[in-house]
Amino acid sequence: MTLTELNQRFALSNHVQFKEIADGITIAEVSNKHANSNITLQGAHIATWQPRGQEPVIWLSPYAKFAPGKSIRGGVPICWPWFGPNATDAKLPGHGYARTVPWEVLETKALPDDTTFLRFGLVESDATLAQWPHTSPVQLDVTVGKTLRVALVTVNMSKDALVLGEALHTYFAISDVAKMKIRGLEGCEYLDKVGEPARRTQQGSIEIESEVDRVYINTEADCIIEDAGLKRAIRIAKAGSRSTVVWNPWTEKANKMGDFGENGFRGMVCVESANAFENLVTVKPGETHRMVVEYSVNAI
Ligand code: BG6
Repeated sequence: MTLTELNQRFALSNHVQFKEIADGITIAEVSNKHANSNITLQGAHIATWQPRGQEPVIWLSPYAKFAPGKSIRGGVPICWPWFGPNATDAKLPGHGYARTVPWEVLETKALPDDTTFLRFGLVESDATLAQWPHTSPVQLDVTVGKTLRVALVTVNMSKDALVLGEALHTYFAISDVAKMKIRGLEGCEYLDKVGEPARRTQQGSIEIESEVDRVYINTEADCIIEDAGLKRAIRIAKAGSRSTVVWNPWTEKANKMGDFGENGFRGMVCVESANAFENLVTVKPGETHRMVVEYSVNAI
């Protein structure tokens, strides 16, 4: 669909407009009385979300690359249909292919409370089927308001049960990593991926003073990022997700990645609502699986 057709079919005055921001990269620019948000059609990737009167809640690297087939550093990358490395083929892309392929707009609407609803569907192609030879349409429903609501919905239309890994790999903007703590995972078991993989139990809230890469398992509780610097708490409430990944690459890894900028890692933390490792989801033929996450902000 051309940009003109996209705007004719799906633009909504005072809510949604489509723009091309780089060669081959189109965004839905969402703006309503509650918030602003930009979503790239590639990856159905929420790049920004800023409720009115707030600093941005989602972190986007100033060095993020917007190019066909490339993942974006920051925002809400969608990891699907596997999380981390592919279990059987190391050549396949880490975190799946959903974040780097085209998605199409299926619906936009202004809701009565003046929030904005958008539905995207991943476009299946020979390239996606070569990596995941199953008929399993996946959609992303996004409601942009004072709260950001995101639902990743997978339908298994194939004849076999599917084993799915997934995450909303959300990067949160924080004042400084030393001034925040994450609550909600106290007492949970996690796989520590820094150094020799190990299994540990979380004691108290999470404070970050070095590289952190952890998959907390069997956890459905809300997580709260308490940011003393910005005097706000970001709440992450979820359903259909039993893992939570907490990630900050710290100096060395961030420098190697090349798209964080100097000390960029200090202004972000990823708290990812996921289904990974022993929490992979089995979706039976004909079944629908939903992972739904709501982000909101309160002053503290
Ligand atoms: C996290 C993983 O979810 O994503 C980390 O736990 C990984 O191990 C990080 O480094 C970033 O991944 P990517 O592929 O976006 O650089």
